[in-house]
Amino acid sequence: MRTRYNAVITALGGYVPDTILTNHDLEELVDTNSEWIVSRTGIKERRIVKDPNIATSDMATLALLRLMEDGNVQPDEIDCVIVSTSTPDYVMVSTGSMVCEKAGLKNAWGIDTNAACSGFLYALTLGASMIESGRSKKVVVIGADKNSSIVNYTDRNTCILFGDGAGAVLLEKTEEEFGLMDSFFRTDGSGKENLIVTAGGSKNPASQETLDQKLHYVRQDGRVVFKAAIQGMTDTCNEILKANHLQSSQIDHLVPHQANLRIIQAVGDNLGLSAEQVKINIDRYGNTTAATIPLCLWDYQKDFKAGDNMILTAFGAGFSWGATYLKWGKLRHKTSENED
Ligand code: UT7
Repeated sequence: MRTRYNAVITALGGYVPDTILTNHDLEELVDTNSEWIVSRTGIKERRIVKDPNIATSDMATLALLRLMEDGNVQPDEIDCVIVSTSTPDYVMVSTGSMVCEKAGLKNAWGIDTNAACSGFLYALTLGASMIESGRSKKVVVIGADKNSSIVNYTDRNTCILFGDGAGAVLLEKTEEEFGLMDSFFRTDGSGKENLIVTAGGSKNPASQETLDQKLHYVRQDGRVVFKAAIQGMTDTCNEILKANHLQSSQIDHLVPHQANLRIIQAVGDNLGLSAEQVKINIDRYGNTTAATIPLCLWDYQKDFKAGDNMILTAFGAGFSWGATYLKWGKLRHKTSENED
């Protein structure tokens, strides 16, 4: 059904911690080597929160403050903040609530959503629905994860992959043909065995046993996830292309979840895209879970022009996966004209 308005991204912000964890640093922690990590994952370094007082909401707030500065948005203008994260500050008290408090938003309400690596995409569609319905005027969608809080730095299967970071976008209404056009999402709970943090929730509350068994760390069967990720992202991108009568040659930018360079390249190849069409920053940040896509948008924003056709796609724990089609709009900025 046609909506009254389109929801378009009008400002962006990102934040990554200053501390760089290189592949050589990881060689000191586990039995691995930089060449293996680069050739199997494409990751050269990732950013890690060092200060124990910095939580996910702090990174999310810093990304939001950057968005407000670059987009010239006042705190009181924002209606709603949706934070997608798998690493909330607390089990109870939403990270969204903390972000509203820390960023000084007096007229907004904040909530969390969680769909792991697909979380930002899902939250983006939820936020867009708030704008399209006319219920909200300015919705901020944030993907933020402090993965270093759930990574076991003695497990070489996982510790090489993840980093910390946050990315934020502002959604506003437009009557022009810009913004979110369509989404195609799927979940399959049977995938949970292959990528999970088992304890700390209501199923396995924290206990001496869960600590002893290291169940508060992320665990994954990389090979299963690898194959499912390529298939899931390829299929949903094809669904979106088909539903919107698009050829892959009409796609200006594919912005994929950054979990593994080989996954990204396989999806790009399956869709018949050239290397220039596929946006990549995994080499510098690793997998920041819900933050990868907004950080990639933030990094590449100067390459995007109003009217560009973009597909965003993700795959993650759940399993959860999908693709969103959007037409890039006009940013409120400051950024490209006034940045030094
Ligand atoms: O964002 C959510 C979704 N997550 C993902 O999409 C991650 C998906 N999976 C992957 O990215 C890859 O499966 C990994 C990067 C996790 C692993 O790469 P792989 O090419 O699938 O390696 P593998 O697990 O098949 O292991 C190949 C070999 C094994 O040795 P053997 O059995 O062949 O002797 C591993 O023990 O590499 C070994 N290995 C390592 N060697 C050096 C595994 N991890 C490491 C390591 N350093 N860190």
